[in-house]
Amino acid sequence: MAGKVALVTGGMGGLGTAMCRALAQDGMTVVANCLPGFPPMNEWLARMRAEGFNIHAAEGDVSDFDSCAAMVQKIEAEIGPVDVLVNNAGITRDTVLRKMEKTQWDAVLSTNLDSLFNVTRQVIEGMATRGWGRIINMASVNGVKGQLGQANYSAAKAGVLGFTKAVAQEVIKKGVTVNAIAPGYIATEMVMAIKPEVREQIVATIPMGRFGQPEEIGHLVSFLASDKAAYMTGATFNINGGLHMC
Ligand code: CAA
Repeated sequence: MAGKVALVTGGMGGLGTAMCRALAQDGMTVVANCLPGFPPMNEWLARMRAEGFNIHAAEGDVSDFDSCAAMVQKIEAEIGPVDVLVNNAGITRDTVLRKMEKTQWDAVLSTNLDSLFNVTRQVIEGMATRGWGRIINMASVNGVKGQLGQANYSAAKAGVLGFTKAVAQEVIKKGVTVNAIAPGYIATEMVMAIKPEVREQIVATIPMGRFGQPEEIGHLVSFLASDKAAYMTGATFNINGGLHMC
C-alpha cells in the first residue's frame, strides 16, 4: 500500500487513532482530520511521532461542505490525491426523543451523516478517474438495530448504510469499493461517557462479556483498504462481540 494516501476523518479520536496506526503500518501516507482548533492536535501528532508514525494533520469541519472542500484541496496540493477515505468522525448527543432538542438532532445528523456527502463528494471523482479507491464508512450496531436514547444517532448511522449501498453501485465499475463497518460498543471515550450504571447494563448484554478494543476496528479498516478486499463492496461488516447477529 506504499504511496497510497489515506484520509481518516475524526482521525485523532479513539477509533480514529487506531485506524491511523493500522493504515500507517500498512505503509500508507496517513492524514488525520480534526476539527479546526482542536486543542490537543500538536500533542497527538507528537505522540504518534514518538510511536514512530509520521502522520499528517488536516483541519476541517466535516459538517461543513466548504470546509471539507478546502481541506481536501490542501491535502491534494501538499500530499497527493486521496486513495482511501475513512468516514469516521462522529458524535453522540444521547437522550430520549421526548427530551431531545433540535440542536441535539441537528448536531448528530450533520456530523455523522451530512459529513459523508461533504467529504466523499470531494474525493470520489478522483478515485473513479484514477481507477482505484476505497471508501470506508463508520456506521454502528445502533444504526442496524436501533437504540433507546439514540434516535438521532441511530437514524444517522442507518443513513450511513443506505449511502454506502447507493454509492457502491455508482462506482462499482471504477475500481472503487464502498463499505460500511458497524461496530458495537468499543472502549473509547464515547462509550465511557455513558453513565457507569447504564454501561454495566450494556456490557451484560454483550455475549462476549466485554467492550471491543479500538485495534479490533483498526484491523478491519486495514483489510478493507487493501487489495485483498477488492471483491467486497456495498457490504456492512458487523463487529460487535455477538451483541447483534445479522
Ligand atoms: N428501558 C426503558 N426505558 C428506559 C430505559 C430503559 N433501559 N432507560 C431509561 N428509560 C426511560 C425512563 O424510564 C424515562 O421514562 P419516563 O420519563 O417515562 O420515566 C426516560 O426513558 C428517560 O429516562 P432518564 O431521565 O433516566 O434518562 P436519562 O436522560 O438520564 O438517560 C439515556 C437516558 C441517555 C438514553 C441513558 O439511558 C443512556 O445513556 N443510555 C445508553 C445509550 C447508548 O447506548 N448510547 C451509546 C453511546 S456509544 C455509541 O453510540 C457508539 C456506538 O456506535 C455503539
